[in-house]
Amino acid sequence: MVSSDFKSFCQRFIRGDNWHNLDVKRKNLGYGWFHYGMICSARPKRVLCIGSKWGFVPAVCAMACVDCGDGSVDFVDASYDAQNDGPQAWGGAGNWSKIDVKKYFAPWEKKINLHVMTTKEFCQRDSHIFDYIYIDGDHSYEGVKSDFLLLWPKLSEGGFILFHDINSKYEGVHYGTGIFWQKLKAWLGNNIELPGDFGVGIIQKKADFRSAIIYELIKLFW
Ligand SMILES: C[S@@+](CC[C@H](N)C(=O)[O-])C[C@H]1O[C@@H](n2cnc3c(N)ncnc32)[C@H](O)[C@@H]1O
Repeated sequence: MVSSDFKSFCQRFIRGDNWHNLDVKRKNLGYGWFHYGMICSARPKRVLCIGSKWGFVPAVCAMACVDCGDGSVDFVDASYDAQNDGPQAWGGAGNWSKIDVKKYFAPWEKKINLHVMTTKEFCQRDSHIFDYIYIDGDHSYEGVKSDFLLLWPKLSEGGFILFHDINSKYEGVHYGTGIFWQKLKAWLGNNIELPGDFGVGIIQKKADFRSAIIYELIKLFW
């Protein structure tokens, strides 16, 4: 973590929440180290993050791009607010439509572009290919499936797609990420899982005939 002081980083991007296997007292950023390490070692040119309450993963990714790579981060969040939008906010704070993104993500502001819109709207407007795609937005089964179907074609060959919350249990709203992940990893393979109460599932894309057929089958039958 070359370009940040740990305390101010936690105050801005974590704020007492812990969805990422953190141990703040021991200065352990949990899954954050994984994203940082992946970006510093795989050096993706374009990173895409879908959904975040306080910006933890987008900030870690932008920091890694500054410290170790020459990539940049697109961060998409519909800025839903749990108080006004209810369960579809998936715990969102509605802050992204209100903040000054350049100030909020400083000193990595040059490496991050915020898009306040849904994944679907973003995919209708943006034609880039990404090398590292992190999904943490709509956690319903249909929502995660829709994000996967929209984003898999935008993932480069050899690129990584990651799903947060593969271990989440029912908590008043129905998390579908785990069910979707169990099916996806069985069909596509080539995956690893990070343990913990929340969990992260990672698949590296093989742009082969088999994966293309599986993608079409998921679109048709799941
Ligand atoms: C609060 S996060 C989940 C918590 C998360 N684990 C974290 O690290 O902050 C979920 C975010 O996804 C956003 N979201 C929900 N559905 C979305 C969609 N269809 N497209 C884009 N963003 C979405 C919400 O606005 C919210 O900010």
